[in-house]
Amino acid sequence: MTTQNTLGYHFAKRPRRLRSDAFCRDLVRETTLKPSDLIYPLFIVEGEREYQPIPSMPGIYRYSIDLLLQEAAVVYTLGIPAIALFPVIDDAKKTADAREAYNPEGLVQRAVKALKESLPDLGIITDVALDPFTSHGQDGVIDEKGYVLNDETINILIKQSLSYAKAGADIVAPSDMMDGRVGQIRQALEKEGFINTKILAYSAKYASHLYSPFREAVQSAKRLGKSNKQTYQLDIGNTNEALREIALDIEEGADIVMVKPALAYLDIIWRVKQTFEMPTFAYQVSGEYSMLMAAIQQGWLTEEAILECLVSIKRAGADAILTYFAKEIAPLLK
Ligand code: PBG
Repeated sequence: MTTQNTLGYHFAKRPRRLRSDAFCRDLVRETTLKPSDLIYPLFIVEGEREYQPIPSMPGIYRYSIDLLLQEAAVVYTLGIPAIALFPVIDDAKKTADAREAYNPEGLVQRAVKALKESLPDLGIITDVALDPFTSHGQDGVIDEKGYVLNDETINILIKQSLSYAKAGADIVAPSDMMDGRVGQIRQALEKEGFINTKILAYSAKYASHLYSPFREAVQSAKRLGKSNKQTYQLDIGNTNEALREIALDIEEGADIVMVKPALAYLDIIWRVKQTFEMPTFAYQVSGEYSMLMAAIQQGWLTEEAILECLVSIKRAGADAILTYFAKEIAPLLK
């Protein structure tokens, strides 16, 4: 058999050679996804045996603590190392000063304690921001013009972080984008002896329109109304600013940095990982989930599209990915 073409040319380099067999494709694949690359975000509510679907996020529910424990056990068995908790707070407990955020008997605090009792080895990440607790839906406290006050907000974020750490949270994750909060939270944790409580800083969090389903899930959308978060979250056109934010959070003591959203910000993930060589997480946010799910439910895309998006996020440089697909995808990765 000849491998010459009609001009008598012998091909020395055939990139397709490596792709001709499945075993070989497996051996040379540079980026693969494992269940241990995933973090599962979970919404929690008060009550018992509560299991509330979120219309814009098919397959995602709000769980009361009893059912959260069951769900977390499934997640843990799948080899997913950690979950991230997002509370849905009763309207009556939302105030302008968000004081429910650091109630030692609050929903998050009780959930963390219960999880640590039943699944001590599952990593628990708690979100540090005030939006679930404020009557106006902003991540911080506001002045009379609605401007989110930086330093006043940090004072509350410190109390919130300490209260989560006391409850047993392994990682506190400030997602509020206030200036200087990582350093102050770090100091407070050190002072109180929480030397191994990790800070996952949502350092490059964009003022994205891909958060809408999340805001429905935590019921902050109606509170927020027509207001936005552009005075603290990053402008979608900026890259250098993201790098400056990341640099500050690292300097202030962040253990892990995060880029959010993920798929529309792969360039940022790439640059952050290349520049800082820090543990870097990415958040495939609610809107990314809903877009894919909607197309899959229509039959326009298959589940493999989920894997492809997740691999692209990892290929860009993410060490781990927060994704609402974690539970569905992990069994396919074993
Ligand atoms: C707010 C917060 C948001 C998300 C996580 N924490 C949204 C926002 O800034 O309004 C979004 C997550 C998602 O869309 O999946 N602290």
